[in-house]
Amino acid sequence: NMDKKIIITIDGWSSCGKSTLAKQLARELGYVYIDSGAMYRSITLYFLRNHVDWTNPEAVHEALGHIKLQFHANHKNGQSEIFLNDENVEYVIRDLVVAEKVSEVAAIREVREYAVKQQQEMGRKKGIVMDGRDIGTVVFPDAELKIFMTADNAIRVQRRFKELYEKNPNVTIEEVRANLEMRDYIDSHREVSPLRQAEDALVLDNSHLTIRQQLDIALGWVKERL
Ligand code: DC
Repeated sequence: NMDKKIIITIDGWSSCGKSTLAKQLARELGYVYIDSGAMYRSITLYFLRNHVDWTNPEAVHEALGHIKLQFHANHKNGQSEIFLNDENVEYVIRDLVVAEKVSEVAAIREVREYAVKQQQEMGRKKGIVMDGRDIGTVVFPDAELKIFMTADNAIRVQRRFKELYEKNPNVTIEEVRANLEMRDYIDSHREVSPLRQAEDALVLDNSHLTIRQQLDIALGWVKERL
C-alpha cells in the first residue's frame, strides 16, 4: 500500500551513520527528513553566541523565547537544512565547538520539552523520517518503524574524523575520539530521556555494511509495514 504513510525513527550512538540512512530513506520514499540533533546543535549555537548561562533555568527559558527553528529544503539538492532565526546554520552547527557543548545543552529539561514539542508537530501528518537519540522512545513512541543504529567504536571514530578532517585538517583523531566518548556517555546517562534502544526497535549494526546494503535492509523493513 504505497498511499499509506508511516513514521520512521532512527536512534543510536553518535556518528554511526543515522543521517545518511535517514536522508536516503526519505528520498526513496518521498518523505520529509528531520535531523533532530540539528535542533539541539542550533540551540547550543545560540546559547554560545549570546553567552547564555544555561546552568540558570531562567536564562534558558528567556533565551528559548528568542529562538525560532525552521527546516527548509535547499533549492539545489532538495535536502532539508536548518535555520536559526532565519539564518542558515546547517554548516556552522557541525563545528567541534558546538559538538563540545551540545550534550550538556541537550540534557536540560526545558530545552528537550521545547524541541520535542516541535518534533511531534512535524510528524503529525506522518511521512517522516527523524533521527536522534529519543525519537522512538519519547518523541514518537507509536512509530510504525523504529531503527536503532550502531557500529563499532573504532569505525565510528574513523568516519567522524574523516568528515571533520575534510573541513579542518588541524583536528586530531584523539580529539574526535574524546568528543564521541564524552557525548555517548552524557547522552546515555542523562536524567531526561537518555539514549536507549526502544523495546520494539530493530537493530542495524552497520560496522561491516555498505551504504547500499544498509539502505536495502531498511527498505525491506519499510515494505513490511506498508
Ligand atoms: O545527532 P547529532 O550528533 O547531531 O546530535 C547532537 C547532540 O544532540 C547529541 O550529542 C545528543 C543530542 N541529541 C539529543 O539529545 N536528542 C536527539 N533526539 C538528538 C540529538
